[in-house]
Amino acid sequence: MCGIVGYVGNKNAQDFLISGLRRLEYRGYDSAGIVSLDGNGEPTLLRAKGKISNLEEKLAKNKREDKIGIGHTRWATHGEPSEVNAHPHRAGKIFLVHNGIIENYKELKEQLKKSHEFKSETDTEVLAALINSFYGDGKYPLLNAVVQALKLVKGTYGIAVVSTDLPDEIVVARSGSPLVIGVGNDETLIASDASALVGHTKKAIYLNDGEVAVVTKNNINIKTLNAEPVSAKVEEIETNLSAIQKGEYEHFLLKEIMEQPESLIETLRGRVNVETGTVRLGGPGLTNEELRQIKHLVIVGCGTAYHAGLLAMYYIEQFAPEISIETVIASEYRYRQAYIPKDSVALIVSQSGETADTLACLRGIKKQGIKTIGIVNAIGSTIAREVDGGTYVHVGPEISVASTKAFTSQVVAMVMFGLTIAQAKGVKPGILRPYVEEIAKLPEEISRVLTEMKEPIKEIANKYIKYDHAIYLGRDVAYPTVMEGALKLKEVAYVDANAYAFGELKHGPLSLIDDRFFEMALILDGELYDKTVSNTQEVLARGGHIVAITNVAGFDLPAEDVVKITTDLKIFVPILMNLIMQLFAYYVTVAKGYNVDQPRNLAKSVTVE
Ligand code: G6P
Repeated sequence: MCGIVGYVGNKNAQDFLISGLRRLEYRGYDSAGIVSLDGNGEPTLLRAKGKISNLEEKLAKNKREDKIGIGHTRWATHGEPSEVNAHPHRAGKIFLVHNGIIENYKELKEQLKKSHEFKSETDTEVLAALINSFYGDGKYPLLNAVVQALKLVKGTYGIAVVSTDLPDEIVVARSGSPLVIGVGNDETLIASDASALVGHTKKAIYLNDGEVAVVTKNNINIKTLNAEPVSAKVEEIETNLSAIQKGEYEHFLLKEIMEQPESLIETLRGRVNVETGTVRLGGPGLTNEELRQIKHLVIVGCGTAYHAGLLAMYYIEQFAPEISIETVIASEYRYRQAYIPKDSVALIVSQSGETADTLACLRGIKKQGIKTIGIVNAIGSTIAREVDGGTYVHVGPEISVASTKAFTSQVVAMVMFGLTIAQAKGVKPGILRPYVEEIAKLPEEISRVLTEMKEPIKEIANKYIKYDHAIYLGRDVAYPTVMEGALKLKEVAYVDANAYAFGELKHGPLSLIDDRFFEMALILDGELYDKTVSNTQEVLARGGHIVAITNVAGFDLPAEDVVKITTDLKIFVPILMNLIMQLFAYYVTVAKGYNVDQPRNLAKSVTVE
């Protein structure tokens, strides 16, 4: 949420700042700004409402050869998206960019009003003024001023600060909002997300909470807020350039949907043994004895990660019957007084590894002495670093705001974790083997379904762009799946799409059925097929406009559209059905002409509460 960049070195700072912001635009995109300093500290501040392209237009008329600067792309929290509220914010000689929220900004603002004339409505300008109140005429070192100010602040931040007195240093700090320092040759780069550094350097230092650093082009000096020195751990950035570019695709969303066969292969690599019918996960770091002790799982996530947890829960319950599972929304769970038995393990699910609510749950659960296992994608992210153990899903950067490939791999990674527990508990191999075999087959099946269905779904989607309302229906494993399907359509196509368990229809939602709605129904072969067909008929009888997705060859209800999936899979069919719903949401949105990668009001990585 919001993106930060910074540069100090021998090259053109403005160029890096803009290209870095472009890479981070998915984190927030309602306004953006950069400031650069020339050799005398003379600043050039450029800010614009809207997309980075608006900022680029301003930059074209204000090109400088400056070698130091900081920049920001914003997702508004305090104050509407506007030029005056865009970062960097200035107070005296200080410029500041900030991710996060300063919770006590109102009190601080009251005190600072005497010395600073506030121009924006942001909490960030308050922090800039606070730093400036310590920095004053520049006799006090910038680092000390920043530290003094941060000691008075309540809330979360990742910040970068420059002073017009110091055209060769940037001060950065973090508490709750990520900050990465890229180590280059005669240059140091700053970003809130390593993807901005790709192609510039492979060496990165991830700042920890409570750390502050002074960076120059050849030096990085990290301390805690209490002035204890920190020895920096330099880590390798594994992402390559093609992973963060659209390549042959028009949008990241379509690219990420289509790359699911490959991204799932990365999740499975070295973890699945079809011959023995077993899985092996190294990351959780639990012994067989510890796995045998597990009686409860708490699965925590937000948005798509939460839905992945729900679907995984349905699966794990099928083969690990002696475990109780609760899947929870992080923003709620963090404030519940829930009792977690000691023989529990918590799965912390997050693509970005930075979601504020999920992180808060992780910390709360750890405090209770419960083991935490991360199901995370972003390597080196805060959640990945703070969990006791974990399984990276390794799907590569997910740039489109709506999550797709992460979902598929999160479900499978969690099912594999469940299988690991079941193996240790001695569940009969005959029960587990079909799951392992189907997991191994999934990438191929995903590839086939995507290739065969892409064009037909595009055609079907075009027929449904007229609807502002949709009901998504499924039961059993198809229920969490439709929750995810509805979220996709809601997020990107702005359709009021809600998911219901088929069995709940008569308890309320059935009264909604009329010509304003269409219904997306998942109809799975198996035990509940007949009941699902009856439920579907109830909708048809009331004039519903049904799109049915089914793996039943003989399905012959007069739905408006029927998408038939042919597959030998029996267990993981919902994952294939979800691909159809992903494509559907994509094509509806493209046909409506909306920005499918950056839906209005949303951001990819939600680092504020
Ligand atoms: C945001 C994103 C969603 C994502 C959710 C959780 O809302 O737009 O796509 O599912 O955050 O993110 P996480 O990174 O924790 O999986």
